[in-house]
Amino acid sequence: MVSSETQTQLQQSEDKIKDLHRWTVHVEVRLKTRASARFDTVRNHVHTFIESFGRLFLPSTLDGWEEVPELASSVEMITVCESPCPESSLSMDEMNIQIHVYKPSDGDAFEEFSNSSGNLNDADDTMAASLCELPNRSHEGLWDSLIYADDIKMKLLDYIHATIVFSDANVDFNLVSWNRVVLLHGPPGTGKTSLCRALAQKLAIRLSHRYSNARLLEINSHSLFSKWFSESGKLVQRLFTSITELVEEEDGFVVVLIDEVESLTAARAGAMAGTEPSDGLRVVNALLTQLDKLKQRKNVLIMATSNLVKAIDSAFVDRADILQYIDLPSREAIYEILRSCLCEIMKKGIVASVSVPTLKQVQMYEIVKSTGRSDISEGQDKPRNVGLRLLALASACRAQGMSGRALRRLPVLALARNIGIGNINIGGPTSSKENQGASVEVWLDGMEKAVKDHAKESEKLI
Ligand SMILES: Nc1ncnc2c1ncn2[C@@H]1O[C@H](COP(=O)(O)OP(=O)(O)OP(=O)(O)O)[C@@H](O)[C@H]1O
Ligand SMILES: [Mg+2]
Repeated sequence: MVSSETQTQLQQSEDKIKDLHRWTVHVEVRLKTRASARFDTVRNHVHTFIESFGRLFLPSTLDGWEEVPELASSVEMITVCESPCPESSLSMDEMNIQIHVYKPSDGDAFEEFSNSSGNLNDADDTMAASLCELPNRSHEGLWDSLIYADDIKMKLLDYIHATIVFSDANVDFNLVSWNRVVLLHGPPGTGKTSLCRALAQKLAIRLSHRYSNARLLEINSHSLFSKWFSESGKLVQRLFTSITELVEEEDGFVVVLIDEVESLTAARAGAMAGTEPSDGLRVVNALLTQLDKLKQRKNVLIMATSNLVKAIDSAFVDRADILQYIDLPSREAIYEILRSCLCEIMKKGIVASVSVPTLKQVQMYEIVKSTGRSDISEGQDKPRNVGLRLLALASACRAQGMSGRALRRLPVLALARNIGIGNINIGGPTSSKENQGASVEVWLDGMEKAVKDHAKESEKLI
């Protein structure tokens, strides 16, 4: 005979085992600026709403919440985020859902740290850092817009998660320690700065149950070199004193972004060789000392970027827990980036709407094409041709080693140089549906020419 207490215990351990076998799925709920509902009330309603679905697609944006009055009044968007799960959808009993409700703050709430010593007559005063509240509306959508081949974004999130697990377990820092520093390096225009901002935004959303507020402090590395000889080390110290004050607020999370960190840390080697003034040495030493102090704090993350990693002081590089190379986009990533550009200009009525195949679909079309078979169903011809042309364009961009930055401006160049502003009819409120935008073929022609132009211009640079 099993006692009811033992039965309960058995049930609890069964539940735990089930939970271990479930995939954690994060659902982000963005609230309207004027929403006044309590976050936990919204979370409960969203939970009930989600349970009405048999399965959830990963990733996806949910519809239908507009029919629930409590959600309609407060919610702006509900997103099911990407997950490490290899399946494209999961049923309710395969998931452990975590709902994150957030209200992004509006973009203009920036505060700045001056590098002056408070002297109002100092005309050369530049801003040493800017501070912004997170989550912030200006960083919305950034995370999803960044496309990388080898799951870099997930790796970064996993790193944060790992540090939280260790911190929560109160691991002895003398035995196992980390520096809370992530360094992203790679060629220009590969999205390093954007990725830091996007990660900061993501953390603010995902950690909102632990921290009541989050902030991103962006350091302007160049401004820390004072025109006053020997002052720069002090500037770094002063800035980090302000950072320490921010971090002292234990229910706030602070992400510090040191963009183009090589300009701060390149100087030590030169100083040691006697070719640089000792100011550089002081800056690097001050920075390293301050970083070592900050690593004791749970609620801070330092993110640095560089496109000249060899120029960075090795003691700084050694402090990076993650040294992540961000490469130029692969052909597949380029396809996704170009597809997102095309879909956006279709959505805004600049190009007539057609369905543009996903990467998986177009890869299938490519295989079918290479086997010489033609079993595409009727009506699929146009999307297939658009997809295959876009994929060929992606190959051409890859051959030229184009950066994400160069890719994202292609549509503008295509319009300005090759299509001609006068040749398209942008859908205004009066134009009919059929009359909206240039045809997709005209756009693809224009984009192909823009890529060829880019190749010619790049040759001249060599
Ligand atoms: N992999 C990518 N996926 C999508 N967009 C990208 C990618 N790489 C770059 N971009 C886009 O390129 C633009 C420039 O990115 P960003 O300024 O973050 O690059 P960066 O690596 O910091 O460049 P730099 O080294 O010159 O400072 C952004 O608009 C970003 O969205
Ligand atoms: Mg940058």
